[in-house]
Amino acid sequence: MKIISDIQELRDHLRGQNRAAFVPTMGNLHEGHLSLMRLARQHGDPVVASIFVNRLQFAPNEDFDSYPRTMQADIDKLEKEGVYILFAPTERDLYPQPQEYRIDPPQQLGDILEGEFRPGFFKGVCTVVLKLLSCVQPKVAVFGKKDYQQLMIIRQMAKQFALPVDIIPGETIRSEDGLALSSRNGYLSAEERAQAPELQRILKEVREQLLGLTERTTESLSAIEMRAVAELTQRGWQPDYIAIRQQSDLAPASNSQLQVGEPLVILTAAKLGNTRLIDNLEV
Ligand code: PAJ
Repeated sequence: MKIISDIQELRDHLRGQNRAAFVPTMGNLHEGHLSLMRLARQHGDPVVASIFVNRLQFAPNEDFDSYPRTMQADIDKLEKEGVYILFAPTERDLYPQPQEYRIDPPQQLGDILEGEFRPGFFKGVCTVVLKLLSCVQPKVAVFGKKDYQQLMIIRQMAKQFALPVDIIPGETIRSEDGLALSSRNGYLSAEERAQAPELQRILKEVREQLLGLTERTTESLSAIEMRAVAELTQRGWQPDYIAIRQQSDLAPASNSQLQVGEPLVILTAAKLGNTRLIDNLEV
């Protein structure tokens, strides 16, 4: 595997390749990331991964400085997956000048859910993803459904800018007890780690309640959301949201959409101690 930090050198190595499959990451790689490398291999060749902890998507009070950086272990994992190039720029490589041009996603997608609780987050994500895509120029790029809203926003960005790249979704990889793998799981104490699968369990409960609704028992969806939030709170979580949304645009869903089988998704973000976890479940 070639490890490259310089944009020009990356271009030189990829010259003439028009089928590259790209997986951007912030490192501290786990099976979720590696599943995306395997998916990328099915859609293109060579596979290019990136590791870059993107300051633009962290608010000042967030964990940019303490975000886990495990470069050598990550390199070993990517070697095993047969990744051809690891693009691992420094901040000076990727942002040689302050990144003043930025991509601001539309409010109705960028300022809801995660965007409401992490202002500016998706602006930072879109800006770095556009720049990484411009550096790598892949045929396809793979993103996990674990970050459901991120995947949707990047898809829309690629569409609206007519970027010559297909955005491919990868399924969420979980540990056996149901917790979605995440670099931030490492922040959990042993006790919190044991409790963390509750987040997925509550999403499943919400899904059961949705599927149990009939035309005669049209409890409002927001009542179901509020009950789930209350249950998480009671168990010691600090939930930011539990939201039942349309898969197509993440707009709030209604009972009638549920009845006609509109694809829905339940999204959540909640803090356990000092660690903020997100998860989602399609209905
Ligand atoms: P990061 O959190 O490192 O995630 C990189 C990719 O891995 C994302 O597409 C994410 O959705 C996916 N991923 C994370 N956990 C996963 C899991 N358990 N199963 C499947 N896929 C999973 O997301 C980012 O980095 C950044 O915002 C980035 C897109 C790289 C821009 O900086």
